[in-house]
Amino acid sequence: MMLLTLIFLQGFSHVLAANHGSHWTYAGPHGKEHWSDSYPDCSRQAQSPIDIQTKSVQHDPALPPVEPQGYQSPGDGAFTLLNNGHTVQMSLPQTMFLRGLPQTYVAVQLHFHWGSRGHAGGSEHLVNGESFPAELHVVHYNADSYANITEAKRQADGLAVLGIFIEVGDVANPAYDNILNQLKNIQYAGQKVSIPPFNVRELLPRQLGRYFRYNGSLTTPPCFESVLWTVFHQRVQISASQLERLQGGLYSTKAENSSPVPLADNYRAPQLLHERLVFSSFPVGPSAYSAGEIVAIVFGTLFVCLSIFLTFYFVVKRARAKRIREQKDVVFKSSSSRAASGDSHRP
Ligand SMILES: *[C@@H]1O[C@H](CO)[C@@H](O)[C@H](O)[C@H]1NC(C)=O
Ligand SMILES: *[C@@H]1O[C@H](CO)[C@@H](O)[C@H](O)[C@H]1NC(C)=O
Repeated sequence: MMLLTLIFLQGFSHVLAANHGSHWTYAGPHGKEHWSDSYPDCSRQAQSPIDIQTKSVQHDPALPPVEPQGYQSPGDGAFTLLNNGHTVQMSLPQTMFLRGLPQTYVAVQLHFHWGSRGHAGGSEHLVNGESFPAELHVVHYNADSYANITEAKRQADGLAVLGIFIEVGDVANPAYDNILNQLKNIQYAGQKVSIPPFNVRELLPRQLGRYFRYNGSLTTPPCFESVLWTVFHQRVQISASQLERLQGGLYSTKAENSSPVPLADNYRAPQLLHERLVFSSFPVGPSAYSAGEIVAIVFGTLFVCLSIFLTFYFVVKRARAKRIREQKDVVFKSSSSRAASGDSHRP
């Protein structure tokens, strides 16, 4: 009986391992730390995301700007926006593709990663340990070599993903409202909505010439190591209320589920770089410091200068006071010695 149970359990775990539709989440018993139980690629050595350490990045001046083609007027066909239980994902037409990469990569979909209200973090990639409130991924497949994304996603040169950091600014970003205004219609997992096509270029940063480039993976199961990553240096800004709509608008559970689970904190922790190199299309010089660090350095330097000045000032002042006192002493002593010789009262 025990043997039978063992054989059954073993068979069952094999079925699970072979089944790439196996259930996964970001936290809990099927969370990030357990992905590799069902998806072995998740524990390989070239995983994404990563923490980009700018002091170790190698500048490659030969890296050209990434040129999105067909992004501005992506045809007449509606986009489909889907809550797939892990993220909000928008389908993209094949008329959108990328130039400036080793091959032609055709767009498939875009989706987001974000945190939760009141907590820092949300982006998948980090820069010098710094995270951002959200990150946009635009996924493309290598159409020169493969028939479709299903075939391409298992190949080393199969996919190219654009990573865009999203931060909070003072004003609403109208391009992002094309998506965020629809979230109320796809609150629950499995729900989708058609939306009119819009200029997708406006979701990207203005400056596409400055980016980080490395070989990595899908950041969700099955974690295939098939992605040529482009992470842009310039960030995109949305308003605080737009971010809150992303953080609080969706559930990872289906509508019929009586205990709904919010869809938030859907980002993977940074993975080890191992043998990989990260390249940059631009010289990442001393400007690698963040604005906060620059302020800290400026004020720190000012404080040190002021301290040195004040110390010097008081030392000089004390020395002068001492000298004057000594001179007075000399004057006093000489006058009192004069006084001692006869005259009884002070001058
Ligand atoms: C993708 O391409 C392969 C190989 O050409 C084909 O067998 C498969 O049906 C295609 N899948 C989709 C979803 O189009
Ligand atoms: C990615 O890997 C391929 C194949 O190993 C290599 O030729 C290419 O230079 C790598 N690219 C980067 C950015 O590391």
